[in-house]
Order: sequence, then structure tokens, then C-alpha cells
Amino acid sequence: MTNKHLLKLSDLTPNDIYEILNLADQLKYDQHHGIPHRLLEGKTLVTIYEKRSTRTRISFEAGMFQLGGMAFYLGGDESQVGRGEPIEDTARSLSRYCDGIMMRTYNQSTIEQLAKYATVPVINGMNDYAHPCQVLADLMTIREKYANLDGLKLAYVGDGNNMAQSLTVGALKCDMEVALACPKSYPPHQDILDFAASDPSFVFTLTDDPREAVKDADVICTDVWVSMGKEAEAEERHAALKNYCVNSELLALAKPNCMVQHCLPARKGEEISKEVFEAHANEIFDEAENRLHVQKAIMCLLMGGIQAE
Ligand code: CP
Ligand code: NVA
Repeated sequence: MTNKHLLKLSDLTPNDIYEILNLADQLKYDQHHGIPHRLLEGKTLVTIYEKRSTRTRISFEAGMFQLGGMAFYLGGDESQVGRGEPIEDTARSLSRYCDGIMMRTYNQSTIEQLAKYATVPVINGMNDYAHPCQVLADLMTIREKYANLDGLKLAYVGDGNNMAQSLTVGALKCDMEVALACPKSYPPHQDILDFAASDPSFVFTLTDDPREAVKDADVICTDVWVSMGKEAEAEERHAALKNYCVNSELLALAKPNCMVQHCLPARKGEEISKEVFEAHANEIFDEAENRLHVQKAIMCLLMGGIQAE
């Protein structure tokens, strides 16, 4: 790994991404076959949450345990983080106890500040800008189905949120074609558009027409219309996104056997129909499972459980 931390996917090289995915495949095999892989024996990870979580929390905690280490949960509201202790002091204190810090927060600047002051690796467990661990799990799941990523078309249908942004960066780095369908009122961050335009070999389109984006797609990804922290905008978001439902009519425009991915939690009947969700539930829950394996790989590579290349 070229970086000490995992804060956003644009910090990773394609080699870093494949190193994580390859190790995740190995760790998944080991886990499924009962092969011990206590690569972080005696190590500890503290996980800080300023937003809710089901998958992130349990996959990090179970993953650390399976690696022979231990994870601690620190809720924003229950700790000094929620009382306004400066993030640089939290970083310097927790670095004295633990071998790694994972944080789910609002602003990318918070995790960047945490990483600046921490002396141990910091992992972004999602914020408003990025969801790198989720997208690495998505790439792992897509590669399990198609064997290779390069040349596949990934379409995303929804607002220009953390998932849209990390999917764009991760998929383009793996030489996939990316088509985003986002309402004009909810575009992705300008950084992401700049990234997509930064390399002439990237194949990227942004449209407000979901039908155009999903045409001939190999994989369609979607996400909730109202992300955590955006609840006050629920009404406007519902109005802007009402035609952004991944249903069987939309799916029919993609390639036959097109894969569907959803980071979860899902609001069935909004961004995805119940019918499409249930027809693709195996792929969606493989994606959820792969959070465990991919994060174990990330922790091993960053926290010294395995010699990085
Ligand atoms: N996909 C995801 O991050 O799920 P949680 O919010 O449950 O952690
Ligand atoms: N975009 C969603 C992802 C949840 C995993 C959110 O930020 O709430």
C-alpha cells in the first residue's frame, strides 16, 4: 500500500486496489474453510461513529476478532468527541492505546484532520464525501461475478452522494466505464468530475436520465435518496429522485444478467423496486458480506498483519 491511511479511493493506486481485493479473496477463502488467519493477534482498532451503522460496525468488529485482535466502539454522543473535544486531541490520545482508528463522520476534513494527528493508520468508515470500504467491497463482488473489472460498464442511479463519488473513482481506477445518472440538483462533487476528466483513458458520463446511464450496463448500483444527515431535505430529494427507481423496466435496458448492487440499507419502492431487490438479493448480500473480507484485508495491509508489497 502506498499510503499509511485509507481516507479516500483517489489516494490508492490501481495496484493498491488489486492488492486489497486479492488479499480479501484469500481471507474470504480462509474464513469459509475454517483456516486460521490470526494476522493481527493482540492488535486493537477503535471505531468512532457520528452516524448510525449496522454493516460497518459489525464487519469491523467481527473482522478484528477473526484476525486475532479486538475492536472498540466509541459512539460520538457517548464520548468526548460529541462534547467537542478537538479531533487532533482524540487522534493523539487514541493513537496511544490502539493500532488503528476507523471513523464514520460527516466531513472529509474531519477524517483528514484525524489522520494528520494520528500516529496509527486511519480508515474512513464513510462520510458525506466518500465510502471507500463499501466501494472496495462492491469491486470485489463485481469481480467475483465477472472475473475481471476492466471494460465492464458500471451505472449508478441516484443522487451525487458518497457512494456515487467513491464508485466513480474506484471503478475508473480499475478501468471500468462509469455512467452516473444524477438529478441536476444533486450532482457529484466537482472534485469527482475533475478526477473523471483527469485521464483521457477514463470512460465517464454524467446524465440526468437513468435510462441513458443504464443502457448496456454490466452492473447497476443505487443508493437511498436521503443519506444520513440529509433528512431535512427529504421532501425535495423525493421530488427530484422520483424517476430514479431501479425497477424491472429500467433493468431491461441493461445487458442481460446485469448485476445489481446496493450498499444497504435499502428503501424498497423508492430507489429500488422490491421485485428487483429480491431478484438480486444474493448479489446484494454477497456485497454486504464482502465488507468483512475487504476490511480485514485493509486492516492487515495498514496495521502490519501482512507485509505490504
Ligand atoms: N453500507 C453500510 O455502510 O451500511 P451501514 O450503514 O449499516 O454500516
Ligand atoms: N449514502 C448513504 C450510504 C449508507 C451506507 C448514506 O450516506 O447514508
